[in-house]
Amino acid sequence: MSPSAARVKSPRDLRTERRRRSHSCWDHLIAAPLWPMHEANLGTLLRTCDAVGACLAVPRLPWVPEALARGNTLRHPACIHWTGDQLSWLTHQHTRTDTTIVGAELADEALRLADLPPARNRTVLVLGHERDGIPPDAVALLDLAVEIPMVGTGASLNVAVAGSLVLYRLAGLL
Ligand SMILES: C[S@@+](CC[C@H](N)C(=O)[O-])C[C@H]1O[C@@H](n2cnc3c(N)ncnc32)[C@H](O)[C@@H]1O
Repeated sequence: MSPSAARVKSPRDLRTERRRRSHSCWDHLIAAPLWPMHEANLGTLLRTCDAVGACLAVPRLPWVPEALARGNTLRHPACIHWTGDQLSWLTHQHTRTDTTIVGAELADEALRLADLPPARNRTVLVLGHERDGIPPDAVALLDLAVEIPMVGTGASLNVAVAGSLVLYRLAGLL
């Protein structure tokens, strides 16, 4: 790599490369961590959503609005959809003919991440419960599952890491 190619971009460079305002709700790509447990994961997912132009769908559990406000280190407000009851919300998404529901999960017959094409139509990415994964009732509503291959000893990835990788892929940025 030549020295000029390796110059690290300054905060000013980055500011001029980014949007001046937050994106409005394109309603095209929606990350749905529907069974959140840890506030840091929601903050991380919110930043990834901003980076790829996606919205975040979350249930309004008592601690969630404050956790999102605290974890939101963005300069502009992000696009958040409040779901209410998770299964009812997901069932409604399932009935929409313009929507594909993708579940990030370690599942039989899941597509490997590298084989997942970018989202062509409105897509909801369902992320599982941070301890128990996606509940069976919700698995039944998925159009497809995607698994991120792992070669280590850990059983699964952190939900925000898994969600971020799949979001980048769905957004066509990886
Ligand atoms: C910590 S994992 C859930 C625990 C895991 N299902 C289990 O029972 O051991 C939380 C969520 O992160 C996502 N996830 C974690 N690792 C993943 C992987 N390798 N591929 C796809 N999704 C993953 C899934 O949405 C999963 O439900």
